[in-house]
Amino acid sequence: MLHQYLYISTAPNLGSDDISHILESCQRNNRERNVTGLLLYNGRNFMQLLEGEEVDLMWVMRRISSDPRHSGLSVLEDIPAQERACPDWHMRQIRLVDDVENRRAALDAELPVNLAPELRRVMLNFAALN
Ligand SMILES: Cc1cc2nc3c(=O)[nH]c(=O)nc-3n(C[C@H](O)[C@H](O)[C@H](O)COP(=O)(O)O)c2cc1C
Repeated sequence: MLHQYLYISTAPNLGSDDISHILESCQRNNRERNVTGLLLYNGRNFMQLLEGEEVDLMWVMRRISSDPRHSGLSVLEDIPAQERACPDWHMRQIRLVDDVENRRAALDAELPVNLAPELRRVMLNFAALN
């Protein structure tokens, strides 16, 4: 059964090199496990959507949750899904625009059209945090 996990975590002051390294790991491992999703980083917190079969999500979550580059990981949503919202993205980072006022609208335009409304709502609220 396909599932979608949405979690947040805390990682103050990671640089763009750190993010690139994380995305490289995603390309390597998520492709192999057929895990797809989205990554948001606001300079202090991550929000990540992971989608795949539960056994594969557990495998990747085990790695992510023991990664010292972040802490305080908290799963906000875990929903069964009929289809993937991001079938082609083994991990896509969506950059949040600098202007907080426009972040929600800018992210709304970038998120996949078939993203479940409850996931979209939580992701847009994350974008509004300053
Ligand atoms: C916020 C965050 C998200 C991550 N997401 C993934 C992911 O989706 N897939 C993955 O394999 N590793 C992810 N990682 C990295 C893993 O924690 C771990 O470093 C990596 O899987 C190690 O694999 P490697 O030895 O192939 O690089 C993430 C790390 C952080 C901090």
